[in-house]
Amino acid sequence: MTLCPDSTFSLVSPSLNNYPYSQENPLKLGIMASGNGSNFEAVAQAIAKGQINAQIQVLIYNNPSAQAPIRAANRGVEAVLLNHRDYNSREAFDEKIVHTLRQYDVELVIMAGWMRLVTPVLIDAFPDKIINIHPSLLPSFKGVNAVEQALAAGVKITGCTVHLVCLEVDSGSILIQAAVPVLPNDTPETLHARIQLQEHQILPQAIALAAQR
Ligand code: GAR
Repeated sequence: MTLCPDSTFSLVSPSLNNYPYSQENPLKLGIMASGNGSNFEAVAQAIAKGQINAQIQVLIYNNPSAQAPIRAANRGVEAVLLNHRDYNSREAFDEKIVHTLRQYDVELVIMAGWMRLVTPVLIDAFPDKIINIHPSLLPSFKGVNAVEQALAAGVKITGCTVHLVCLEVDSGSILIQAAVPVLPNDTPETLHARIQLQEHQILPQAIALAAQR
């Protein structure tokens, strides 16, 4: 049965609604990104539109050539480069991240394209207050190259997930998912581009969901 032949079809669960959380003061966000920063931008836009009552305190990035800090500068958000290559261990790196997040008074941490494994040093510092966006319908296709993994597996539907971060990679409680069809001629780039459109919808919603917990 063909439910919907439209290539833009997607299914979000829980369904997108009116960002149902109220809190008197804006929720203080810290965003961690390694690359392009389109998800950073989506969060900044949702805030600017008044969809979520939040403010981005700081962007932490670990890759000197990342585009995310340029987006931060355009939005007037402070960006801090913490280069993992400058630290002797993952734990020492995470200690610096925790210190920086605390310095900026962050309440909720968002991994928006953060391509480093994290340790208990970070996870225990913000229990149930770190969320991650991943380009697959978890628990399928964890880890790196999730879009390529989905194509190689021949699935007909994939998508994206926002979940709480726990020690095991891409395995914490799921907050929200969006399904995206795989089209016959998809390349990793075309499929990832359609997944990202959905990421930009569900990440702000996930922040609202995380804020209610
Ligand atoms: C996003 O597609 C995100 O799901 C993925 O990195 C991309 C970052 O895009 N994250 C992972 O693969 C984490 N395992 P962006 O820099 O444009 O926001």
